[in-house]
Amino acid sequence: MAADRRTGGRKLKRIVFDQDTIARRVAELGQDITAAYPDGELVVLGLLKGSFIFLSDLVRCIDRPLQVDFLVAASYGSDTVSSGNVRLLYDPETVLKGKHILLVEDIVDTGRTLNRLVTLLRERQPLSLEICALLDKHIAEHLELEPAFLGFDCPNEFIVGYGLDHAENFRHLPYIASLT
Ligand code: PRP
Repeated sequence: MAADRRTGGRKLKRIVFDQDTIARRVAELGQDITAAYPDGELVVLGLLKGSFIFLSDLVRCIDRPLQVDFLVAASYGSDTVSSGNVRLLYDPETVLKGKHILLVEDIVDTGRTLNRLVTLLRERQPLSLEICALLDKHIAEHLELEPAFLGFDCPNEFIVGYGLDHAENFRHLPYIASLT
């Protein structure tokens, strides 16, 4: 692979999804989401930090009114699903009750993050709750809610770029690559 100045000399193993492939798929997801929500208020909730690039591209491909807000969740080890174990470092200011909520996640790995958030968000009594994930490794043993919208099946490798990090680096790569 050609050197990319953005990696600071760190070698990437391979590009898994290139920029054009991502852009085409995100546009399709935007069309699917537009079609899936003919009525009602839609709040697109991005889970930070990993979803920030995906979310910003995705909402520009959704052709209907919507609101954007974010979640920042604190991790609590490997506890199983319990809303009591979720602490939001940033809690959306937008009222969620009675609205369609679309939770946007960059990658589903073990599924723990989503399981916690789904439980917590259901308590807010949204009109509907669905997940849009860019990548899914398909290794989660149990998901409270399967993503209704999925960008790509993801190989079980260490993935960086397009929002995803390794030790906070590589988030700004415009493509998705594997490190190892
Ligand atoms: C990563 C990723 C997902 C989560 C997936 O977030 O962005 O949110 O892990 O893993 P799981 O399915 O095993 O729960 P991370 O906690 O690294 O924070 P970040 O989004 O700020 O990178």
